[in-house]
Amino acid sequence: MSSSSNPRTALATQLARRRPIDVPGADSGDSPGLKRSLGLWQLTMISIGATLGTGVFVVLGTAVPMAGPAVWIAFIVAGVTAMLSALSYAEMAGSVPVSGSSYSYAYATLGEGLAWVCGWCLVLEYAVSVAAVAVGAGEYVNDALGVFGWTLPQALVAGPDGGGIINLPAAAIVLLATFLLARGTSESITVNTIMVVLKIATMLMFIGIAFTAFNSGNLEPLAPMGTAGIAAAASRLFFSYIGFDAASTAGEEAVNPRRDLPRAILLSLGIVTVIYILVALAAIGAHPWTEFTNNGPTLAAILDEITGTPWITLVMAIGAVIAIASVVLTVLYGQTRILMSMARDGMVPRVFQRISAKSHTPVAGTLIIGIAVAITAALIPLGELADATSIGTLFAFALVNLAVIYLRRTRPTQARTFRVPLYPVVPILGFLCCVGLMISLGTSTWIVFVIWMAIGIVWYLAYSRKHSVVGRLSAEEYAQAVRAGEAHAATRANEAE
Ligand code: ALA
Repeated sequence: MSSSSNPRTALATQLARRRPIDVPGADSGDSPGLKRSLGLWQLTMISIGATLGTGVFVVLGTAVPMAGPAVWIAFIVAGVTAMLSALSYAEMAGSVPVSGSSYSYAYATLGEGLAWVCGWCLVLEYAVSVAAVAVGAGEYVNDALGVFGWTLPQALVAGPDGGGIINLPAAAIVLLATFLLARGTSESITVNTIMVVLKIATMLMFIGIAFTAFNSGNLEPLAPMGTAGIAAAASRLFFSYIGFDAASTAGEEAVNPRRDLPRAILLSLGIVTVIYILVALAAIGAHPWTEFTNNGPTLAAILDEITGTPWITLVMAIGAVIAIASVVLTVLYGQTRILMSMARDGMVPRVFQRISAKSHTPVAGTLIIGIAVAITAALIPLGELADATSIGTLFAFALVNLAVIYLRRTRPTQARTFRVPLYPVVPILGFLCCVGLMISLGTSTWIVFVIWMAIGIVWYLAYSRKHSVVGRLSAEEYAQAVRAGEAHAATRANEAE
């Protein structure tokens, strides 16, 4: 039955309608075309792949002048905020293991309106952040070339503050990742795993060498800018944790999503948090904080200063470019899977859900997103993109915390492979921390966010609500889907026991 003849067409009803969870097909392995091939190791690699990159390699340097030596404490503050939401993500990923991440969680719990808003924010978290991340590669490409006495012309590389005309390395990395993703998931995951191992090795190399030049005097006074400085740096550094939720976009390609997704999310966040704190301590110990500016030194330059050995600088710079490339690859992967889920629900055009029989990937959607992101990365400076990314991400995280509370109240018997500890304190704190960090972001970021949301609302009103698959079900079909879902959930609950 079409929505026009359906009595449930009033806008309020449309906004509130929920996608029945556990509908057979959503998580039972028979989604058309996607292959279940990812285990805990690969899922953890996806999340670390999507997380560790431009934040620690580039944004760390810009946060040092804000917090002084206490920048490592700022990493802890941002990490705790991320961890509170990660626990909620873990619970939802174990309950609604489809490929749409928080968009799907919101649709199953908070209704279509908030789900759309969430999905629209995820485009900021994923597509826009890929552009921001890729921009960070430019400086390190120049560090690597510098070892041979070459540099790219200023016009072709934009630093964190912009300055160039077009960022060629950024666009090149995005296009390479796009073509790899279009070829196939397993090829992409293998390349990602290799890159993650290399980037962790690069970080360990930095920590090992920088600690040999550790000067405890560099850590005094610890917090010259006080707690306000630490808070500002924490908001800035939150960017470096974005991506831990990427495993949740692989719910339909995971062999055992309910068991492995929560573990992968928490494991990856724990690993990167430890690395970040050590890198921050090592960097500050080796290089006086007063000499950090928005444009450097890079971590490669710090090692150059300590060792005076060009090949170590070269290894560090190549490691950074690889790290950034793996973020680009996995986050782009996540975006294509989220849009696939949204297209399947009728929220965005069907082209994003079309899966190629040959590569088992959504090729057309991948190419559209990849090319759009490459153009954005080439033309817009990092700083502006990074803050827009953070506000969208924080909003999506806030909704996931609400979704946990909603689902606990409405579906107490739902099978859950992971339960948030100290419920309801953790999701409530998670929600408040996200809102707090959102409030501390600047006015210009809020203006961008409001404009972004306005565009999203117009899209929903003009397109999504009319094409919504749930909305096209007759009352009877809907009730049947809910019943089928409940039966499916009951089977799951029995299996889990
Ligand atoms: N967390 C990602 C990075 O730092 C966005 O590159």
